[in-house]
Formats: sequence, structure tokens, C-alpha cells
Amino acid sequence: MKTELEKMLSGEYYYTCDQEIDKNRHSYSSLKNTTQKETKTFPFTLGMGVGTEILQPFYAEFGFIKIGKNCFINTNSTFIDGGTIEIGDNVLLAPHVRLISATHPDDPRVRRMALCKKITIEDNVWIGTGATILPGVRVGKNSIVGAGSVVTKDVPEGVVVVGVPAKEIRKVQYDEKLYEEYKKIIGE
Ligand SMILES: CC(C)(COP(=O)(O)OP(=O)(O)OC[C@H]1O[C@@H](n2cnc3c(N)ncnc32)[C@H](O)[C@@H]1OP(=O)(O)O)[C@@H](O)C(=O)NCCC(=O)NCCS
Repeated sequence: MKTELEKMLSGEYYYTCDQEIDKNRHSYSSLKNTTQKETKTFPFTLGMGVGTEILQPFYAEFGFIKIGKNCFINTNSTFIDGGTIEIGDNVLLAPHVRLISATHPDDPRVRRMALCKKITIEDNVWIGTGATILPGVRVGKNSIVGAGSVVTKDVPEGVVVVGVPAKEIRKVQYDEKLYEEYKKIIGE
């Protein structure tokens, strides 16, 4: 028989007050990978890329997080990560972003059960302050999520979405002049 933790990680209903689940809950403060290689140690059980920085306060329920290279996670982010959270490279999260992979049943008698679905944030995504990403959502490469949005469905690549629920308002724009200036600044 599966444990409650195994059920959670395989996307089945699990009991949230289970002892083993409880033992795996942690909160973290400031975290930065300053090494030359990806770390796969506590608290990032699925990996943390080189150059990625997470400001405190930061809360992750378990640490079932895979985060790529050169990401910047601003202050007060909350990762409810029972469904696992996978973040690509060069992702920016503004303050107070919430990645919520868990949900509870409608039936009030069993609300202490939960069901988790993986959240995926692809390379170069920028998520604005106070945005919430709901269970199972994938945000496509290069896209932008506006401040305060609630993202209920997958976001395609290269678009800007805003609002509650989040809707596409335009495509991401490219600025050649600014790109040339940026390359000079970073010495490319
Ligand atoms: C999404 C965003 C980048 C869009 O910027 P923009 O293209 O300049 O957007 P505009 O101001 O031209 O707005 C376009 C429309 O979208 C609406 N809109 C813009 N951002 C919105 C948001 N976050 N939520 C709801 N509606 C929004 C505007 O009201 C406007 O609507 P209208 O056409 O009916 O007047 C920006 O609004 C945003 O949310 N930035 C996040 C800032 C942030 O979190 N910074 C943290 C840095 S660490």
C-alpha cells in the first residue's frame, strides 16, 4: 500500500496531517547556489542550478523543487510544492508570488485530503508581484504573468497574461536597441 507521501507525489488524494508528510514540511530562509554545479541536496531535493538566488523570507512546504540556472526569486515567495515545482533557467519571480500545486476536495467532510498537480515554469519567464499560479499550470517559455494575476490554465510561449483569471493581452515584444545596450553592460 502506498504511503500518504507516495500518494501525494503520484497525484492522488492524500491525508495532509499524516506524520511522515508533516516531517517533510520545512521553511527556509535565504538560499543561493554559489557553487559551480547544480546542487541536489536539502532543501532542493530535485535540484538547484548555478547562480540561482532566493531571497528570504521564502517558504516551501517540502522542497520538492527543481530550479534551473540564474533564476532570481524575490522576497516572500510561497511554494506549495507537494505536486513538485519545476522552474527553468533565467526565471524571475517578483515579491509575493505564490506557486500552489495543491487543492482540496469540495466535500467538507474530507477537506483534510489534498490532491497535487505539478507546476512548470519554463525558461525566461517573469512572474509579476502578487501573482498566483494554480495546480497543474505550465507557463510557457519567455512569457510574462502580470502583477496580481491568478493563472488557472496553461500559458503559451511568448505572451503576456494579466488578470483574474489571467488572459493574454499581447505577445512579448523584442527591443533590439535595448538588447545591444545590455550586451555592452554585461560585456558580451
Ligand atoms: C503585465 C505588465 C508587464 C504589462 O505592462 P504593459 O504592457 O505596460 O501594460 P499596460 O500598462 O499597457 O496595460 C495594458 C492593459 O492591461 C491592463 N493591465 C496591465 N497590467 C495588468 C495587471 N497586472 N492586471 C490586470 N490588468 C493589467 C491595463 O490596465 C491595460 O488595460 P486597458 O487596455 O483596458 O487600459 C505590467 O502591467 C505588470 O503587471 N508588471 C509587473 C510589475 C512587477 O511585478 N514588478 C516587480 C518587479 S520585481
